[in-house]
Amino acid sequence: MPLTSPKEMFEGAYQGEYAIGAFNVNNMEIVQGIIQAGEAEQSPLILQVSAGARKYAGQKYIIKLMEAALEEADLPIVLHLDHGQTFEICKEVIQGGFTSVMIDGSHLPLEENIALTRQVVDYAHDQGVWVEAELGRLAGVEDEVSSEENVYTDPDEAAEFVERTGCDSLAIAIGTSHGAYKFKGKPQLDFDRLEKISSMLPGYPLVLHGASSVLPEFVAMANQYGGSVADAVGVPEDFLRRAARMGVCKINIDTDIRLAMTAVIRKYFKEHPQEFDPRKYLGPARQAVKDMVQHKIKNVLGSSNKV
Ligand code: G3H
Ligand code: 13P
Ligand code: ZN
Repeated sequence: MPLTSPKEMFEGAYQGEYAIGAFNVNNMEIVQGIIQAGEAEQSPLILQVSAGARKYAGQKYIIKLMEAALEEADLPIVLHLDHGQTFEICKEVIQGGFTSVMIDGSHLPLEENIALTRQVVDYAHDQGVWVEAELGRLAGVEDEVSSEENVYTDPDEAAEFVERTGCDSLAIAIGTSHGAYKFKGKPQLDFDRLEKISSMLPGYPLVLHGASSVLPEFVAMANQYGGSVADAVGVPEDFLRRAARMGVCKINIDTDIRLAMTAVIRKYFKEHPQEFDPRKYLGPARQAVKDMVQHKIKNVLGSSNKV
């Protein structure tokens, strides 16, 4: 099966009130773990690549890994650019074969965000490529994506933004953030705001970034085996189920993959200090990615058996 567009995936997700997981990939073990989970659950998948991941692995390697994945697994799979910052990067990945891009103009003033998004939409739609845009801003720091503050999405502005840009899906800010430290106190999302945005844009797919749950078992394991991931808090999984019933069709998960791999590798190193064969620790790390992603698909996103 060739790489596909999110269109049909999101139509099914919207109608069926579930979400498609968009998992960040950086290397072979991560790709394999996610694909194995998708196969086990017969779930559609979005694999997404940030600018940092593209720099780390190289676009050619990513594309070849995806080709291998598509030969192995008979699943609908989207290859998506995560947080594209410029028109040029979107154009480059589209030329490389990505079937979906995010143009992230969320740091720009509204009119500039609209103009940049429109430019990407015009180019991408000519090539049959899907465009996700962002309105509002998520707090959190990643390699190439960072913001100090959260700016929640305004529902009226969201409707105007979609109308004027022609973007196919919209990432919104309702209280999630990137990374492992999402909430100071009790986790809270602005579901009233989500409901308003959803009702302004009926049938339209929304996207939730910063949606890792920062699973306590992996935080505890990382800390037990020499890590220092203190006070990490993520989005409770029942919040994600709720969002999936309110028009959120794509849920982005990266931090949970990072934590699962790191925790398992730390444990392995501590228990096998004499070992130095990377396959010995990358194998269990890949298995941890598979198990974690399978859990998300089955128990959180609800996308099992939707292929
Ligand atoms: O939203 C950002 C993703 O988690 C990617 O992070 O820029 O460190 O690859 P990165
Ligand atoms: P997390 O940091 O919560 O995994 O969010 C990932 C993300 O939004 C990628 O775009
Ligand atoms: Zn993001």
